[in-house]
Amino acid sequence: TTVEWEAESYDMGGHDTYMHKEICEQPDAVDRVLRGRIDDRFSTVHLGGLNLDAREARSIRRVKILGCGTSYHAGLIGAGLIESLARIPADAEPASEFRYRNPVVDPDTLYVAVSQSGETYDVLAAVQELKRKGARVLGVVNVVGSAIAREADGGTYVHAGPEVCVVSTKCFTNTVVAFALLALHLGRIRDLSVSDGKRIIEGLRRLPAQISEILTMEDEIKKLAKEYADAKSMMFIGRVRGYPVALEASLKLKEISYIHAEAYPASELKHGPLALIEPALPTVAIVPDDDLLEKNRAALEEIKARSGRILAVAHQEQEKADHTIVVPKNEDELDAILMGIPLQLLAYHTALELGRDIDKPRNLAKSVTVE
Ligand code: G6P
Repeated sequence: TTVEWEAESYDMGGHDTYMHKEICEQPDAVDRVLRGRIDDRFSTVHLGGLNLDAREARSIRRVKILGCGTSYHAGLIGAGLIESLARIPADAEPASEFRYRNPVVDPDTLYVAVSQSGETYDVLAAVQELKRKGARVLGVVNVVGSAIAREADGGTYVHAGPEVCVVSTKCFTNTVVAFALLALHLGRIRDLSVSDGKRIIEGLRRLPAQISEILTMEDEIKKLAKEYADAKSMMFIGRVRGYPVALEASLKLKEISYIHAEAYPASELKHGPLALIEPALPTVAIVPDDDLLEKNRAALEEIKARSGRILAVAHQEQEKADHTIVVPKNEDELDAILMGIPLQLLAYHTALELGRDIDKPRNLAKSVTVE
C-alpha cells in the first residue's frame, strides 16, 4: 500500500541518519533549484516546463495550491509568496479535503499540485478530477517523471535530490524556493517592479550561505532540544508568513519525537489557546524583524505573563523569551525559508534525545499511494 524507498541504495555519507544528512544538504539543494533559472537582464526567472505563456500568466485570477502533509505547508508559504510578489489571490488546501468537497472549478484559477514523491494518491486524484473538469494544473514536484508530474499540464521540478527519511526537510525547503521562483516569474509578468525583482533575486542568492550559517548553530540547538525534550506538549505560534513555519515545525516535532504539538496564528492566542499556557507547555514563537514585530512581541508578553516558557526564532534576541535562536535576516518575503531550518534541527535533536527511530517514525510512510 505504500512506496518504500530503497534506503540502502543511498549512501548516508557519514551521517547517523538520512534526516541529518538531508538537513545538511540544504545549502546545495537550494543552490540546485536556483541554478540556470535566474535572468539578471530582466530581473526574473525562467522556468522551462510551465507551459504558460505571458498572456495566459496575466489572465490568472486566482491560484489554488493542493498538497498533503509537509507539501501542503510548503504550499501555504507558496501561496503567501504568490500573493505578495505577483499580487494574485492565492491559497493552499489539503488535497484530500479539496477533492472530497466537490469543489467549484474555475477556468481563471491556476491550480498547483505539490508533492515530493509525485505519487501521493490524494494529490493525484485531485489533479485528475481537476483535469477532467477542464482546469489548468501545474505540478511542483521533486521526483522526475512521477505520476503527478506526468498528469500535470506543466510545472517545475524542485531538484531536492532523493529524500530517504520519511519526514521531509530538504524537499520542503526546495519546494518553498521553487514557489518563490514561480511567484517572481508571475510577478515580473504582472506588476512586480524591476527593482523588487532584483531585490528578491539577491535574497534568493543569499539563501545557501545563510542556511549554512544556521547549520553551524547545531550544538546550541542540541542543548535547547535537551532542555525542552521533557515537554508533554508544545505550542508553535507565528503570524502571517510565520504561521506556516509554525505549522511545519509542529508537524516535524510530532512526526519524529511523538511529542504532541499545536500550531496557532499568534493573533488567535487570545481566542482560546491562551487557556493552555502554563510552565509545563513551552511555546516556540516565530518572530521575524518585519512590520509585525511589535505584534509578535506583544504575544510573547501575553505568554510570559502566564509563566509560559518561550523559545523564539528571531532576527534579534527577544527579551521576553527564555531562549532565542537568532537567524540571519533575508528579504521579508523570504525569511520564512530560513526560520524553519533551526526548527528541523530542534525536532531532530529532540527525537534523538528521546531515542526515536528518526528515519522511520512509527505509523508513517514516505509516500501514501492509497486513499
Ligand atoms: C506522507 C509523508 C509526509 C509527506 C506527505 C506528502 O504523509 O509521511 O512526510 O509530507 O506524505 O507526500 P508528498 O510526496 O506528496 O510530498
